[in-house]
Amino acid sequence: MSQKFRIFATADIGEALDQLRKDGYEVEVYPTPDAPPKALIVEKVRGGIDGLICTLRDKIDEEVFAAGQGTLKVVAQYAVGFDNINRADANRYKVPFTNTPDVLTEATAEYAFFIMGDLARKLWSAERLTRENRWGSWHPSLPFLGDEVTGKTIAIIGAGRIGQAMIKKCAGFDMNIFCCNTLRKGQAFLDAIQEMMDLRYARGISTEKNWIKYATLEEALPQADFVSIHVPLLRPEESASPTYHLFNEKTLRLMKPTAYLINTSRGPVVDENALAKALKERWIAGAGLDVYSKEPLSADSPLRDPEIEDRCRLLPHHASAARTTRLSPDPDKGMAGRCVQGLRDVLEGNYGGDVAKMPFVVNKEAFR
Ligand code: GLV
Ligand code: GLV
Repeated sequence: MSQKFRIFATADIGEALDQLRKDGYEVEVYPTPDAPPKALIVEKVRGGIDGLICTLRDKIDEEVFAAGQGTLKVVAQYAVGFDNINRADANRYKVPFTNTPDVLTEATAEYAFFIMGDLARKLWSAERLTRENRWGSWHPSLPFLGDEVTGKTIAIIGAGRIGQAMIKKCAGFDMNIFCCNTLRKGQAFLDAIQEMMDLRYARGISTEKNWIKYATLEEALPQADFVSIHVPLLRPEESASPTYHLFNEKTLRLMKPTAYLINTSRGPVVDENALAKALKERWIAGAGLDVYSKEPLSADSPLRDPEIEDRCRLLPHHASAARTTRLSPDPDKGMAGRCVQGLRDVLEGNYGGDVAKMPFVVNKEAFR
């Protein structure tokens, strides 16, 4: 490479950065595990870096893009979700930003599935009982009973990449599936899943005939035993169909009192005060959360109320946290590899330098 590019990474994404260095990039990494202060990111960008590697906890907006005017060529987000990046600001300053789709799809979906099982079968409470020596003798209805997942009905809110991966796992558990999507463009996928369900029934692998179909939220919520959220966070000013507080008092009240809510998408999709109330007053049976309106979850969050701890699982934004998914430098396997590939595509002018053709650039609309 004739030109030497300068990069600042707000977090250490491992081996993938070594490859950049080997190829002549100058890479500086924020050394501690906390998020760098915004002022530091702005300072680094103002210092003339060519590329910024950031992640979901870093707010990237007008202030950052203005500081990089004329020098900042790419923002490479280490995450699939990018609600921390102000798209309109990126477009105004004509800075492409990339994300890391696909490589975390299965890891995130399986984690959502495991939270669902933990929640419904009360694994956390059960292990605690054992560890605290409160395990009495084996008894049909003690210490408590959970609910089966197998054969139940689930509503998948947002059947995109991760939602579809969740559907595959649910189909394997003989579940019936509602898909709640604003855009119903995955019909071929639904047809294929239905065909597989029919075959499983025909060959005696499943004892009941299962189904998958599109439904509105209003149709699905009153019938679902589980509800799993897989939508991006879209604020009202960003979209005609926003997802901000999609789960609120009104929609939570549509759910069955025996139903469970799982959220591995973004915290603000759920109104947490409404959810805490729903759990406390038992409008729903439980919730399993991996994401929050404020992360880390604040010490005074109503979700921490000990009164609801038996039915509220709280995980630390952890769904993609599997070794290969997070750190593989292979762009087809790991977020680290894919993040660096997105950065390289822009800086090295891959795809004939046509930003709109680069697969990991999100804001292609600014470059057409
Ligand atoms: C994680 O939340 C991601 O968006 O990758
Ligand atoms: C449970 O352990 C059983 O044997 O039914």
